[in-house]
Amino acid sequence: MSKAKFHFRCVACGRRTPDFPTWFSQNQQCPECKSKHAEIEYNVDYTAFPLLLKENDPKSFWHYFDYLPLHDRKNIVSCQEGAIPLERWSFFEQYAAEQHKIDCKIYVYRNDLNGGTNTFKDIAASMAASVLKEHNINQYCIASTGNTATAYGKYLAIAGINAAIFMPKNSVEASQAEIASYGQQVYSIDGDYTYTKQVAADYARKFSVLISSGNIDPIRIESKRTMVFEWLRLLGRMPDVYIQAISGGTGPLALDKAVRELSPCMSDLHLPKLLMVQTDKCDPMVQAWENAKAQNFPQGFEQQYPIIDNPKTAISILATGNPTTYPMLAGLLRKYGGNFLRVKEDKVIDVTRLVAYERKTHIGPASAVCILGLLKAIEQGEIQNNQTVLVNIGEGIKRAPAFLHKLGHHIKNILSVDDCYLPDMNRFRKELWKNALD
Ligand SMILES: Cc1ncc(COP(=O)(O)O)c(C=O)c1O
Ligand SMILES: [Zn+2]
Repeated sequence: MSKAKFHFRCVACGRRTPDFPTWFSQNQQCPECKSKHAEIEYNVDYTAFPLLLKENDPKSFWHYFDYLPLHDRKNIVSCQEGAIPLERWSFFEQYAAEQHKIDCKIYVYRNDLNGGTNTFKDIAASMAASVLKEHNINQYCIASTGNTATAYGKYLAIAGINAAIFMPKNSVEASQAEIASYGQQVYSIDGDYTYTKQVAADYARKFSVLISSGNIDPIRIESKRTMVFEWLRLLGRMPDVYIQAISGGTGPLALDKAVRELSPCMSDLHLPKLLMVQTDKCDPMVQAWENAKAQNFPQGFEQQYPIIDNPKTAISILATGNPTTYPMLAGLLRKYGGNFLRVKEDKVIDVTRLVAYERKTHIGPASAVCILGLLKAIEQGEIQNNQTVLVNIGEGIKRAPAFLHKLGHHIKNILSVDDCYLPDMNRFRKELWKNALD
């Protein structure tokens, strides 16, 4: 018999689970120690992996099929996601050089250009729909603040898989409507994200339906780790600094998995410095980190974190008040270097206007948080000369259409031509920068 392509290994006790059917039948947890955290290991030869990085024009992250947990290509459900550009945004480089004497390269990873729903959740949804299709599963459920919900709603619908999607009622209405329009069932929950996850878990139990097991779900981690593959392909190396708005934490956990997995075949590979950004309206991880730092990171500091009930943030995508992955993330940041950064939520519109002006690109609110984190990192000296910085633009403005309406700051209501003058685009620049940086 030929060797299986992959298996699961329990992170807590090491026990192996051979395949998805077994993993699903044991309730997506280790039968031995009950840990829900397992990682996928591939029984493949990594010597061929670097060849994939020489390819110029992959159509999607399925370019890495040999290193993904799917057996048959015919089950791939894809909208061309995960092969997106890394763009150099030189206006931020100029700002860093002129105002802070930092000479660095700043790349943004354009998840807003993904073919599915234009967010960084599309790769996970593509992976999930494909795995579920391969195993003939036609009912699934998931709780999400919005972007994962939309992506799963669409991709599972494409595969003909029913999804019950649980979202806190303050999530973006347009996202709920979009999911419902694909024929999926949205449950809008009167409560915060923590409560929404409980209701989804109750639903999964009541109807014996498979549920996405959250931020450590191997399906999500395996897909998102291909971001590292793509950066290696596009940059030829890992960035020195990675900046991301943080909510559940799948992003950085996936990077760590990729680096550990590839290290044996790529000797100088290492995790970038991780800068994780939250706004002052929902910042449990930043609070926890600041407390730990003030006490000089005592033994067990990772386990101490606050839980914010009903966070009062307008950025519903990032409204994870109970940061259950903090212990893992805090451990990673402590080990490899990094920081949790707090930015002001009331600067989100200003920085979105600045990017629209400088790049003619509309980023979504969670991406704006990430860019505010970049500005803060530059200001706080988190970035050194000659470093390469990668900023994860997780979503475009399509995800929050109401947000777009807030960008028209200098529209004038006039009665006649007497109130007109010749426009001069340049006059906005100074004001936009000032407002974004204040
Ligand atoms: C656009 C965007 N950025 C960042 C995040 C945070 O992702 P995570 O914390 O799961 O890595 C999300 C999702 O929650 C998102 O949709
Ligand atoms: Zn175990």
